[in-house]
This record gives sequence, structure tokens and C-alpha cells, in this order.
Amino acid sequence: MPFIYNWYSNFLFLPLQPNMEDATKHIYPIFDRLLQRDAKETLLNQRAKALWLTGLSGSGKSTIAQKLEALLHAEGFITQVLDGDNIRSGLNNNLAFSIEDRKENVRRIAEVSKLFVGCGIVTINCFISPTVEIRQFAKTIIGAEDFLEIFINAPLETCEKRDVKGLYKKARSGEIKNFTGIDSPYEAPTEPELIVNTQTQSIEESAQQIFDFLMPQIKKK
Ligand code: ADX
Repeated sequence: MPFIYNWYSNFLFLPLQPNMEDATKHIYPIFDRLLQRDAKETLLNQRAKALWLTGLSGSGKSTIAQKLEALLHAEGFITQVLDGDNIRSGLNNNLAFSIEDRKENVRRIAEVSKLFVGCGIVTINCFISPTVEIRQFAKTIIGAEDFLEIFINAPLETCEKRDVKGLYKKARSGEIKNFTGIDSPYEAPTEPELIVNTQTQSIEESAQQIFDFLMPQIKKK
């Protein structure tokens, strides 16, 4: 493979992939010339945040997001739900479940979330996002001031008992490989902004808990 540089690799002495150089060399971003987020938030009469719901498959992320969105909508807030199964059927349909693919999954979603937040929209992200590193990656892309990590907490046994999609059964039988919690790791958040316990609470209570937590942060003064 030829040894290719761009200007900073002269300092770091790092070889770059040939396609990486092509992809980044002739790019001229115009972020600074676009209408600013403030103006859009004023128009929408809300402040944007990116909620990041993490938890095992079957913990309740997507169902809570649906209820939460309905609650916010009823109060006049504009939202966008980004959900693992939805996004993986479109934008990310070329990604599987290795740790590298999950990281790429989350990288793209975080970039999309950032666009929505920049538009003044409250973004509800529901992704297993199984490791501390992957979630930190999302936080870095979106920006720490806009990123709210919410742990949707239910023990593996509970999620497996629910087995809403029948995937745990398939994972146990070996039909599905790299399944989170079975033969692929899940690291619980160490310092989430909020913990939602879906073993002891109903979906309605959980959505209300997030709504109450979020309201002061998205309401325009
Ligand atoms: S993540 O780990 O990359 O964040 P994501 O949230 O997008 O995962 O997708 C998880 C959903 O994909 C699960 O809710 C489940 O329906 C489905 N799925 C299919 N295969 C797997 C697997 N091996 N591990 C986890 N979820 C899987």
C-alpha cells in the first residue's frame, strides 16, 4: 500500500488510507454561514437536547420513546425519535453487530442527532450502544452540553423473559451471534443523567419520569 499523507500527517507521521485522503482533502464546510440554532429554537419556542436512551434489547427504550414523544407533542414540543431497528432498516442497513459496526452505527446516528439538535429539535435516541466508549463517542460528536444519557435499566433475566421479538431465544440457540447480554457485552452507564427502572415501573411511569426531568431543560424562559 502506498504511504500517503495529508498536511497533519507530516506532524504525526501517520499513514492514511488512500480513500481517507480523497474524502477529506477538498471539503469546504459552511457551518458558520448557516442560520444559527438560536433563531430556530426561538421559532419553535423550545430548547433542543439529545436524549440518549441506552439499555439492553427489550429493556423498553423504543416503547418509552413513543410514549415520551406523545407527551412532549401534546405539550407543543417538536421531537424526532431515532431508533435502532428503524435506522438499521435504512441509513445503517449495511451494518451488523460487531463492536466496530455498532460504533459506526452510533457515529452516524450521533451525527444525525447533531443535525436535529442544531435545528432546535428535541431528539430521542434509542440505541443499545453497549459500551462506555461508544456512548462517550456519541457524546463527543453531539456535544456534552446537549447530551443527556438515560439508562433504561432492566436486568437481563427480565429482558430475556419478556423476549418481545423472540431474539433472546434465537441467541440462546446460537441462531443469532453477538447478541448483547448473551455473547456480546453490555456495560451499564456509570454516571447517567437519569436511571429509569423498567422492572419496577410501568412504561407510562417511565415516560413521565423522563418528561419531568426534561421539561425544565427544553422549556424556553
Ligand atoms: S447497537 O448495539 O448498535 O446500539 P441497535 O440499538 O442499533 O444496537 O440495534 C439493536 C436492535 O437490533 C435490537 O433491539 C434487536 O431488535 C436487533 N438485533 C439484531 N441482532 C442483534 C444483536 N446481535 N445484538 C443486539 N441487538 C440485535
